[in-house]
Amino acid sequence: VIDIRKLYGETGYFTFDPGFTSTAACDSAITYIDGDEGILRHRGYAIQDLARNCDFLEVCYLLLNGDLPDAQQKDDFERTITYHTMVHEQLAKFYSGFRRDAHPMAIMVGVVGALSAFYHDSTDIFDPLQRKIAAHRLIAKMPTMAAMAYKYTVGEPFMYPRNDLGYAENFLYMTFGTPCEPYMPSPILSKAMDKIFILHADHEQNASTSTVRLAGSSHANPFACIASGIAALWGPAHGGANEAVLKMLEEIGSVERIPEFIKRAKDKNDNFRLMGFGHRVYKNYDPRAKIMRETCYEVLNELGIKDEPHLAIAMELEKIALEDPYFVEKKLYPNVDFYSGIILKAMGFPTSMFTVLFALARTVGWISQWKEMIEDPAQKIGRPRQLYTGTPAREFVPLARR
Ligand code: ACO
Repeated sequence: VIDIRKLYGETGYFTFDPGFTSTAACDSAITYIDGDEGILRHRGYAIQDLARNCDFLEVCYLLLNGDLPDAQQKDDFERTITYHTMVHEQLAKFYSGFRRDAHPMAIMVGVVGALSAFYHDSTDIFDPLQRKIAAHRLIAKMPTMAAMAYKYTVGEPFMYPRNDLGYAENFLYMTFGTPCEPYMPSPILSKAMDKIFILHADHEQNASTSTVRLAGSSHANPFACIASGIAALWGPAHGGANEAVLKMLEEIGSVERIPEFIKRAKDKNDNFRLMGFGHRVYKNYDPRAKIMRETCYEVLNELGIKDEPHLAIAMELEKIALEDPYFVEKKLYPNVDFYSGIILKAMGFPTSMFTVLFALARTVGWISQWKEMIEDPAQKIGRPRQLYTGTPAREFVPLARR
C-alpha cells in the first residue's frame, strides 16, 4: 500500500501534464496572450501598437519596469544601455577558442554563460542594484556579442559598438561593417531590424523562458540563466524555426511543388511538418506574423528585391494551407517565424544567425521574467514531479551471480 500523501504532498493530488499544456508554472504581470483571439499584449499594450509606435529600447524599459518611459526616462535608459555596450577584452579572446565553422548559437551559449566570470559585481541576485545592472548589461552586450559571433565565423575583425547609433542600427553596423568599409544601414532597414526585435521581445512562458525561470529558481546567476535560455531556444521546434522555414522553402524550390509538401505535412507516417506553422498557444493568426509580413514587404522594397523566390513560395504556401481542411481543423496558422527568415536573408544574414537574432531580442523578456521571479517573495525552487514507470523494487543481485 502506498501512502499517496508521502509521494504527492498533503493534498494527495498530482498533475501529470507532459509538455505543460494546461499547467501554469507561475503568475506573471508581463505578457498576456489570448491564443484563440490572436492577442498579444505587453504590460497591457497591444503588440501592434508597440511595434508601430515604439522603438525596441522603449519596449525593453516597459518589460523591465512595468510602464513605458517618459522622455527623460527614455533618455536616461538609452544612456545607461549605451554605457554597457562594450565587452571585456578578455571575453573577446574567448571567441578564438571556437572553431571558425562553429554554429553561432553554440558560441552564444558559451560566451553569454561566461559573462558571469567577467562581471562579478552583478551576480548577487539578492541585491536589487546588481540585478538591475545585470539586466542592463545583458540588453546592452547582446548585440555586441551576437555581431562578434558572426564576425568570428566569417573571419572578419570585431567591430566596436558605436554609442551614437540606435540599438538596431549599431547592431547592423557592427555586423556588416569592417574597419575598411564602414556600413551604415538605411533608416528603413534599421527600423525593420528594430521591429523584428520588438516582435521577439517576450512571449510569456515558452520553452526558453520557462528554462530561464527554472534555472533561476535555484538562484543561479542571471548570466548563467540567460545562457540556459539560449540553449533551449536553439531547437527547431522553438527559436530555430525561422532557420528551418528558410531551409524548407529552399527544399520546396518552386510553387508547383507546394502540394507535394502539403501532402507530406499531413501524412502521419512522415515526420515532415510545415515549419513556421502552428503554435502551442495561438489557435488563430499569430499577431506578430502579420506585422512580420508587412515588414517583409518594406525590406524587400527598400533593397530593390523583386520576385524574391522564397517570398512567392511562402505566400502561396500560406494561401494553400489556410484553405486546407487539415490545417483549418487543427488551427495551424503561420507563426512569427514564417516570414522573418525571408527578411533576415534579404538583409544579408546567413541562416545560422537567425536564431541568434531571436536570442538577442528575447534577452529582455528572459531577464524581465527572471527579475519578476526573483522579486516574488513566494518564489520557490522549481521542482517538477514525475510519474515513475520503471521496475518496481527488486532484490539486489551481486555481480558474481548476474
Ligand atoms: N505541420 C503539420 N502538422 C502540424 C504542424 C505543422 N507545422 N504543427 C502541428 N501539427 C499537427 C500535429 O501533427 C498534431 O496532429 P495530431 O493531433 O493529428 O497528432 C497537431 O497538429 C497538434 O500538434 P502538436 O505538436 O501536438 O502541437 P504543439 O502545440 O505541441 O506544437 C509546435 C506546437 C511545436 C509549434 C508545432 O506546431 C510545430 O512543430 N510547428 C512547426 C515548428 C515551428 O514553426 N515552431 C515555431 C513555434 S513559434 C516559436 O517558437 C517562436
